[in-house]
Amino acid sequence: MKVLSRSVRTRYDPDWNPLQMTPIDPRIVQVLRAATRVVVFTGAGVSAESGIPTFRDKQTGLWEKFDAAELATPYAFERDPALVWGWYEWRRAAVQNAKPNPAHHAIATLANHVPQFALVTQNVDDLHERAGSRDVVHLHGELCRPHCENCRRPYAIPEIPPQSSQAGRINPPRCEFCGAKIRPGVVWFGERLPEQQWLAARDAAKHCDVFLCVGTSSLVQPAASLTDIAVNAGATTIQVNPNPTGADGSMTFTLRGPAGTVLPQLVAETWAAVNVR
Ligand code: APR
Repeated sequence: MKVLSRSVRTRYDPDWNPLQMTPIDPRIVQVLRAATRVVVFTGAGVSAESGIPTFRDKQTGLWEKFDAAELATPYAFERDPALVWGWYEWRRAAVQNAKPNPAHHAIATLANHVPQFALVTQNVDDLHERAGSRDVVHLHGELCRPHCENCRRPYAIPEIPPQSSQAGRINPPRCEFCGAKIRPGVVWFGERLPEQQWLAARDAAKHCDVFLCVGTSSLVQPAASLTDIAVNAGATTIQVNPNPTGADGSMTFTLRGPAGTVLPQLVAETWAAVNVR
């Protein structure tokens, strides 16, 4: 059953009025309230309202301004380590200066209402953790966990990254054990996902009864295949995204709107009158 639920009026709608938000489809509220195992799967869109650009949004997306091949592959780091390291330090500074938004907080609250919960993210920022979420499964690594490209030992990166409005060239530090370059703690295109995180995400998608997919274009594999795993396992799949995505066809329900508006509303309408479990 594929249902595009009535869109929730959003900021994109000129006569949007927060006091007149369209109630969320009661079937979504029902299925979420009855859920025992929930997976929330997030992408860059969940951090967009914190001022962190997504990757593929027209004009604003990072890959609109920067060339992924120049910056997000092991070959790019080999070719020009200072350019790549500088770019990731610039991104780390942006994340540090950002704050979790109502979407991050709603997800942390949702976790307290369901017996079994897993949060799987493609994001390399720590905004979920700063909003109070625990045991976040980072499929694409974390900006705050750089490591040696050779011996893979973690590198204790200075808390405060260099602050600059533009991404500048910065030579990566060297590993104190083997002297090799320290690389950003993220998964680059062409690299394998961290095994444990992938197995945990796949297992959670296989056994959930509700799979909530928030702020991702569902274009990057293998992460995007988690939705299919959940669909094949018979889960109800719910998408929150203001724009059409590659997963529209796999969703039981789609809520068209910004996560920072839709998720707090969803949590409030689902559990407003229910005590925390
Ligand atoms: N609320 C919800 N969704 C939003 C919002 C918002 N406020 N703003 C934008 N979006 C949606 C866009 O419509 C888009 O579908 O977020 C999605 C962002 O998609 P991408 O930029 O492709 O980001 P993501 O899906 O996370 O990319 C996956 O690709 O570049 C790699 O490793 C990187 O983890 C990343 C992966």
